[in-house]
Amino acid sequence: MTAVVLDGKACAAEVEAEVSAQVAELAEAGVHPHLAVVIVGDDPASHIYVSGKERACARVGIRSTRIDLPADTDFSRVVSTVEELNANDDVHGILVQSPLPKGMDELAVTDLIDPAKDVDGFHPSNLGRLVQGRVDGMVPCTPAGIVHLLNWGGVELSGKRAVVIGRSRIVGTPVSLLLARKGVDSTVSVAHSRTADLAGLCRQADILVAAVGRAELVRADWVKPGAAVIDVGVNRVDDDSERGYHLAGDVHPEVSAVAGTISPVPGGVGPMTIAMLMRNTVRAAFNQSK
Ligand code: GUN
Repeated sequence: MTAVVLDGKACAAEVEAEVSAQVAELAEAGVHPHLAVVIVGDDPASHIYVSGKERACARVGIRSTRIDLPADTDFSRVVSTVEELNANDDVHGILVQSPLPKGMDELAVTDLIDPAKDVDGFHPSNLGRLVQGRVDGMVPCTPAGIVHLLNWGGVELSGKRAVVIGRSRIVGTPVSLLLARKGVDSTVSVAHSRTADLAGLCRQADILVAAVGRAELVRADWVKPGAAVIDVGVNRVDDDSERGYHLAGDVHPEVSAVAGTISPVPGGVGPMTIAMLMRNTVRAAFNQSK
């Protein structure tokens, strides 16, 4: 068996088309969605991700402003940047790209962002809503993109056993909440570095989400035949190519021979994350225009 590939690019293009139409509708009402992205330091991967977000904004007609701060920026400058964006009525969405330079308190920055402008969905009030089973706040982009992609691909979630590897604030924890919530109805286990017999747990999964940041960790014999496997990993692996590295997911390529459905890296979850960010930004602009 070779797994059916969940084409995140195609699915994201459909979401972006809907978002473009919403942007046009808002424009008629005089509202022009505007996303501000703050990036601190020179992490190369973060710069690539942020450029991708800017390009998506341009595609769907969202205005974007990028604020680049050097790695040695004072924390107080990051704080005042967020406070200015909070106070600026012209800005509807604020995203501070993670990771921040070592020693900077990311949670403190997250807490500062106006929840109505928190298009990442990481503010305690947005994550708290998710814990309550509500999706009327800003829902984190990668988790929302994963569930949207699974639904789009016709993967049955209700009553199924889901295993999420990784408990991060950005992916693992919120995607486990989304999969378990009423109406989605998966039975979810969250695995992490202390999980005993991780391979055995994964083999029970009808839906396996790998969001742990370890290249090709998930092997074919970890996967139940026919399972849906979502690879969230983007890992740099050093090699002797001209570039000096290649990108690998958290799922080994051999898994395609066992899984029923697989979301690849690249071209799976990445484009979905960006599409959901566009959706959150338009939603934030609409809510703020009321
Ligand atoms: N770094 C990696 N993924 C994300 C994300 O979804 N949002 C932010 N702000 N930073 C990230």
